[in-house]
Amino acid sequence: MQASTNAAHAIGGVDVAALASAYATPLLALDTDVFDAAVARFAELGAALEIDVAYAGKALLVVALAERLKKTPLRLDVCSLGELHTAERAGFPAARMVLHGCGKTDEELAAAAGGRVARVVVDHREELERLAEIAQRAAPVEILLRLNPGIEAHTHAYVRTGGEDSKFGFALGDVDAAIERALGAPALRLVGVHSHLGSNIFEATPYEASLSIALEVCARAAGRGAPIREVIVGGGFGVDSHPNGERLDLAATLNALVAHLHKEARRLGVAAPRLGIEPGRAIVAAAGTSLYRVVTVKRQGMRRFAIVDGSLADNPRPAIYGAYHHPVAVGRAFAAEFEETTVCGRSCENDELVVAPLPLDLRAGDLLALHSTGAYTFSMASNYNRFPRPPVVFAGGGRHRAVVRRESLDDLVRNDVAGE
Ligand code: LLP
Repeated sequence: MQASTNAAHAIGGVDVAALASAYATPLLALDTDVFDAAVARFAELGAALEIDVAYAGKALLVVALAERLKKTPLRLDVCSLGELHTAERAGFPAARMVLHGCGKTDEELAAAAGGRVARVVVDHREELERLAEIAQRAAPVEILLRLNPGIEAHTHAYVRTGGEDSKFGFALGDVDAAIERALGAPALRLVGVHSHLGSNIFEATPYEASLSIALEVCARAAGRGAPIREVIVGGGFGVDSHPNGERLDLAATLNALVAHLHKEARRLGVAAPRLGIEPGRAIVAAAGTSLYRVVTVKRQGMRRFAIVDGSLADNPRPAIYGAYHHPVAVGRAFAAEFEETTVCGRSCENDELVVAPLPLDLRAGDLLALHSTGAYTFSMASNYNRFPRPPVVFAGGGRHRAVVRRESLDDLVRNDVAGE
């Protein structure tokens, strides 16, 4: 069997074996050179095309990452007090933060009304009412209404689903009433509409369809004397972890969106609102690599298994979504012959992390890198089996440092209350 890729032995200019010995395994290494380049690309395109770019913190947010983002022009989406607290610890300016979430608590709405973020994306009528009430105690709050455009995006197509099959946002039939209500609330300033179609989208068409819907809403709002200044079309820009996988042409996609925005604004006779996007995965996924040590390689039935020292606890996406993270044996020279191998974690489940060709001479003690784990891997990690969560290590320009320490066994029992 053929090798499926070249082994990458360095991350951010740091040898993987050095990372493994400095921090032990499993670990999540974030190549800050790759991350910075992705941020710079979005920032450049945003500036050139007049698109506001916000990083969706849910993909990965730790204090050091927020500190890094703070120095860029990007905004930041937070969807919980936890994400907000993380950003605040980093000194990320409130003026560049947006609060998301489809079930915001009063505490979160009060944080927004208290000026800890610049604006709120309101998900539903009840939230609009609660925010209108809470915001009365403070300065007016800028809001965007989240639309449910009823579009389901797939890799190569989109379908209108009538909007009833997802919990998010205002159904299109309820939007006009929500706009009326927002206009009637002295403590709220309606600045925009928002939608998010889903993740890993590889073409412009679904975004264009959702933009058209948003602009129709803008036209109706303008007719009521409520000009809408901004339309955010969400995140979801595709990233494929397979080395031969699909690539989204970001510049072409964003250019197409801007052209579509202007075309639709002309058609509907409204001033073109400002466009916003909020990518998470497309900024951070490729920068991340999960590094494991092989515990054993064994044959069972027809299969060759490699059990590694991680699991679905630190790397849950394969189990939840069938996600593929490309594995590469690293850290030494390997045989050129490969054999299909099922890489499993060490949890008490059939936790397959990936099935792929790996070197015939792979053995216990070797290092295995799983690529493109920067997004939604650490942020979704758990302590299943009471495994401590791995450290997050920044590696770039040949230097490295832990930005999240490995959890200790004491961390695991910190909130346990002993005694009867
Ligand atoms: N904006 C909103 C309102 C969102 O809900 C999301 C993601 C994003 C932006 C960013 O989407 P991205 O550019 O990262 O695709 N846990 C799943 C992904 C869930 C995405 C949730 N929302 C995964 O691991 O694939």
